[in-house]
Amino acid sequence: MSRTNPAETTETTDSTEQTDGRTVSTTAGETVEETRPEWTDYDADGETKLAVENLNVHYGDDHALKDVSMEIPEQSVTALIGPSGCGKSTFLRCLNRMNDRIRGARVDGTVELDGEDIYQDGVDLVELRKRVGMVFQNPNPFPKSIRENISYGPRKHGDIETGLLARLTGRAEPERESNLVERSLKRAALWEEVNDRLEDNALGLSGGQQQRLCIARCLAVGPEVILMDEPASALDPIATSKIEDLIEDLAEDYTVVVVTHNMQQAARVSDQTAVFLTGGELVEYDDTDKIFENPESQRVEDYISGKFG
Ligand SMILES: Nc1ncnc2c1ncn2[C@@H]1O[C@H](COP(=O)(O)OP(=O)(O)O)[C@@H](O)[C@H]1O
Ligand SMILES: [Mg+2]
Repeated sequence: MSRTNPAETTETTDSTEQTDGRTVSTTAGETVEETRPEWTDYDADGETKLAVENLNVHYGDDHALKDVSMEIPEQSVTALIGPSGCGKSTFLRCLNRMNDRIRGARVDGTVELDGEDIYQDGVDLVELRKRVGMVFQNPNPFPKSIRENISYGPRKHGDIETGLLARLTGRAEPERESNLVERSLKRAALWEEVNDRLEDNALGLSGGQQQRLCIARCLAVGPEVILMDEPASALDPIATSKIEDLIEDLAEDYTVVVVTHNMQQAARVSDQTAVFLTGGELVEYDDTDKIFENPESQRVEDYISGKFG
């Protein structure tokens, strides 16, 4: 497993090169190299929560994700990094079948959650997305009260009776609801800041608070996996550092997969890091320390040292 011999690598600007029978396209500044299967053949400590095998995604004729295989261990933070357009969001959306909603997207391969293929016929997508929740780049709370943002999901899933109709028919469970709201907000490190204004509109919160509210909303339905797509990239440094602390803390109980284009963030919060590069390839996947200190791939080294991307 030696680093690619420098003699084999060539600095290029926008080229297509034939390597071992395969065409490798690169963007300006990227080195051409042949990727090796052992660079992604990483066996993490801990039980596998999600096992992805030979995952390919096409958008029409565009091959966005190329034959990605990786195992994501439970109760840890897995970071996905790489330049814009390399397929990180596409990969993340495959993990709870959000790509199903995108017209023209075709997903091939398998994704197993606790050993069960989530793409097999008959999978209940509502149940799947309850087990595998998602937090997006821009905080998107509902234009409702803080309390209702939390209880909305469990209510929709039929796990708790709240709301006007439940109150009118005497079926409301206000105590269960307030326990759930308190527990979720505490777990998302937001309770102290909002407990005296739970009936206020969530849109009045700061951006960082809104994002922690979205995390609390995700936690309220009892997920096992939390997918986060650049969850802090719209936030200021202080709000970002709160989200980072929270991500590390959540990994005690949940499997967290986080996309970030902020390399320091990946290095700070994650246990293992997967590097996707141009062309939708997973190039290297390993312990975060290994990726940042001594990667196998020259392209990964160039990327993390800021030579492109
Ligand atoms: N909904 C979509 N329809 C068509 N092409 C898409 C769609 N989403 C992403 N793509 C394409 O797939 C590739 C990977 O995109 P994406 O997963 O968003 O990358 P990243 O999150 O790493 O920036 C890009 O070429 C992008 O243009
Ligand atoms: Mg993205």
